[in-house]
Amino acid sequence: MKERIEELRREAESYPITDQESLEQYRIIYLSKKGFIHSLFDGFRDVPAEAKKETGLLLNNLKQFATDRYNASKESLSSAETASSGADLSMPSVPYGEGSRHPISIVRKEIIDIFSRIGFTVSEGPEIEDDNHVFSMLNFPKDHPARDMQDTFYIKKISGEESDPHDVLLRTHTSSVQVRVMESQKPPIRTISPGRVFRNEAVSARAHCIFHQIEGLYIAENVSFADLRQVLLYFAREFFGKDVSIRLRPSFFPFTEPSAEMDVSCNLCGGKGCNVCKGTGWLELLGCGMVDPNVLEACGIDPVRYTGYAFGMGIERAAMLKYRVNDLRLYFENDIRFLSQFRTEIV
Ligand code: DAH
Repeated sequence: MKERIEELRREAESYPITDQESLEQYRIIYLSKKGFIHSLFDGFRDVPAEAKKETGLLLNNLKQFATDRYNASKESLSSAETASSGADLSMPSVPYGEGSRHPISIVRKEIIDIFSRIGFTVSEGPEIEDDNHVFSMLNFPKDHPARDMQDTFYIKKISGEESDPHDVLLRTHTSSVQVRVMESQKPPIRTISPGRVFRNEAVSARAHCIFHQIEGLYIAENVSFADLRQVLLYFAREFFGKDVSIRLRPSFFPFTEPSAEMDVSCNLCGGKGCNVCKGTGWLELLGCGMVDPNVLEACGIDPVRYTGYAFGMGIERAAMLKYRVNDLRLYFENDIRFLSQFRTEIV
């Protein structure tokens, strides 16, 4: 038997395995139930007792050897097949596109971060609102042009009257959120409210029927216009860089008294005057003012004890000034050639 084992080992070693077919032949001849090695095991019981130990060892070694060769050949055949299928295994994988945040989300987050650092919380309100929260409680007179169907998208008109406080509409500004906050919270209140707003406007480079605003509100005792100016200067420096200057121009809003509009120095020409700022050196950024006592009263806050300021800005407008994009529509078209230019670390 010993000789037969050695013979088989030599055979198994030199058996030509070149493809799947010869591999299978090899398996049948040496390793299958009817193969040579198995039949040797069958003959093992006739081996004389004194030779059993040695023969068993040799037999096991032979089986191990034949099995190892089978496995190794199988593996090298299959990797040879992949290589010959034309695939270049050293090629780097297809790059995985990661996407990027929308510039409006980036700017929104940045503005929220700037105000959070000085204690402002974030509050949100509904996009579908009633006349009361968007206009009446904000001191808009009944015949104010902003209530006109041409400016406001109405969902449900309650009565035939020009303006019914129960009329349902899409909010035209985020100032409605300050009303909701003041109705439900007691001063001191320090909050910002980002959100989508809707206006019945034809879409152009400078106007859109949907855009985003951030509203700011601070109500406490002894809040002054100087506080407002200081917080706006802080914001402008954080957002545009520390060399920016601001100016406040008198303006009018029904819900603030006095009211102002804030300009920032043109970041393109540094205030000298260019075609972006139309030679003025200034770019308009937001509306603001001291909350009108009528508004405080309508929201159940004592206007004798408390004062406060409010401000509101368009997020698209802030983004346009920061990134010098002069067509609003780009923010809504979602063309990835535009969007992918706004890479950020912010998550
Ligand atoms: N709501 C105003 C608008 O949509 C922006 C605004 C102006 C908000 C003055 C304010 C403010 O809070 O005080 O044009």
